[in-house]
Amino acid sequence: MSRSETLVPFIPEEAPFTHEQRAWLNGYLAGLYSYAPAKAAESASSDLHVVVLYGSQTGTAEGLARKLSKELKGAGYTVSLNSLEGYIPATLAAERIALFIVSTYGDGEAPDLVQPFFQQLCVEHFPLLGNVSYAILALGDSHYEHFCQFGKNLDAKLRGLGATDILPRAESGVDVDRPFTGWKKAVIKKLCDMATPSSAKHGEILLSGETSAVDMPAPPIQAATQKHTRENPYFSFLTEKRALTHSSSSKLTIHLDFAVEDSALHYEVGDACGVIPQNCPALIDTVLSFSRFTGNEPIDIPKVGNVTLREGLLQHFAITRLTRKMLSEYATLTECKQLKELLVPSQQVELERYLHGRDLADLLEEYPGGLQTPDELVKMLPRLVPRLYSISSSPAAHPGQVHTTVSVVRYRTHDRDRGGVCSTLLADRIGPGDRLPIYI
Ligand SMILES: Cc1cc2nc3c(=O)[nH]c(=O)nc-3n(C[C@H](O)[C@H](O)[C@H](O)COP(=O)(O)OP(=O)(O)OC[C@H]3O[C@@H](n4cnc5c(N)ncnc54)[C@H](O)[C@@H]3O)c2cc1C
Ligand SMILES: Cc1cc2nc3c(=O)[nH]c(=O)nc-3n(C[C@H](O)[C@H](O)[C@H](O)COP(=O)(O)O)c2cc1C
Repeated sequence: MSRSETLVPFIPEEAPFTHEQRAWLNGYLAGLYSYAPAKAAESASSDLHVVVLYGSQTGTAEGLARKLSKELKGAGYTVSLNSLEGYIPATLAAERIALFIVSTYGDGEAPDLVQPFFQQLCVEHFPLLGNVSYAILALGDSHYEHFCQFGKNLDAKLRGLGATDILPRAESGVDVDRPFTGWKKAVIKKLCDMATPSSAKHGEILLSGETSAVDMPAPPIQAATQKHTRENPYFSFLTEKRALTHSSSSKLTIHLDFAVEDSALHYEVGDACGVIPQNCPALIDTVLSFSRFTGNEPIDIPKVGNVTLREGLLQHFAITRLTRKMLSEYATLTECKQLKELLVPSQQVELERYLHGRDLADLLEEYPGGLQTPDELVKMLPRLVPRLYSISSSPAAHPGQVHTTVSVVRYRTHDRDRGGVCSTLLADRIGPGDRLPIYI
């Protein structure tokens, strides 16, 4: 029987397994058998098959995985690119080289939709992955306590299952460019070492390094410039906004329609719409009032350029949630004994209690005078990230429109009314006719 005629075996209903066990085993077999022909072809051509797997929530890991995959393809590798959302972990057993780019959320967890993948990978008696070589680029934000934790957990799990890392795990904060470039180079060098030297193209990429054709700005092809991403969002008109909750309700939920008919944005049922938010100008005034700055001071933001401090705080930095890292950097600047005491490991509970429900303005108000320059301020702050909203319309029923339903985050802590950055922007600060940067 030829490979193409091979039937995928399955576990019958009457076999002595629970529903979950049977589903898992059938997934494993399906994965194993569906990948077998590719492996056979690979050995026949001595070509190196690489799978690039990403775990992403707001698109950063996905964007990098796409870049990597494109570059590897350009260098002659056979590459498949997959999201870990819905990926059957058992198919990993049939891979030879797996390159992971994954971000971290929650308390050091996988992105929401990637959690089932990791849960399945962690089931007891998961098949060993002894033939798999892998590398991980873990994305995170060093302001979070569990920095890059999902990447770390994935690394430990894969190693525990017998897979071999071709490189030590790399970790990146929110400025991903440099770590990604460094990791990508190291991966490519390793792949070159592992590949048969039959393909001259494999060497080219190593020699050309950072200035390889793929790293250069893309040529101005119309289709590429129309593609809207987190980095190149579409400025969509808000065409409708209405409350779905009664005015007497303590909770506000709103319905929003965005016009996308003039864009190349496409979506399917189940996709999410990313919104690039801005902070509340009134909160920026509050922050500035607790500093010695007017907001007109120039600052330089990597990859953005020169803007005023006010503009930076409005568009680029997260100021609504106090993090351990912010507090720690401010404690160093102020030499404040009280803040430093909160940072000793035995004070973890006390520290969390202090951070909860406070923001940058609270810190500057309670411990004034610590900042000498605007750069000191912005260096403390995490970058403002997009928020995702599930699309509640169907492209068939509402062509050219994206509908979302947003529950507005408002709460009061430490004697001040506070709000979620993006949901209050949508609820309070934009209206029909205004434009907002979005991507799918
Ligand atoms: C795939 C996906 C789809 C989503 N779809 C939707 C959707 O369809 N509709 C929707 O409304 N949201 C959706 N969300 C959530 C959405 O992305 C935002 O997280 C949400 O709108 C809050 O964002 P924000 O900027 O308004 O709040 P943020 O500025 O992110 O503030 C939220 C934070 O405020 C703090 N906080 C909130 N309440 C309190 C309190 N009482 N005390 C102290 N601190 C508090 C917490 O730290 C909380 O994390 C989705 C998220 C994902 C990942
Ligand atoms: C709500 C939220 C929670 C996060 N939690 C963590 C965390 O616990 N640890 C961490 O290192 N990074 C954390 N991050 C940062 C993301 O991992 C980081 O921004 C990453 O680049 C996002 O990649 P993605 O766009 O592919 O999802 C968090 C970000 C958000 C918005």
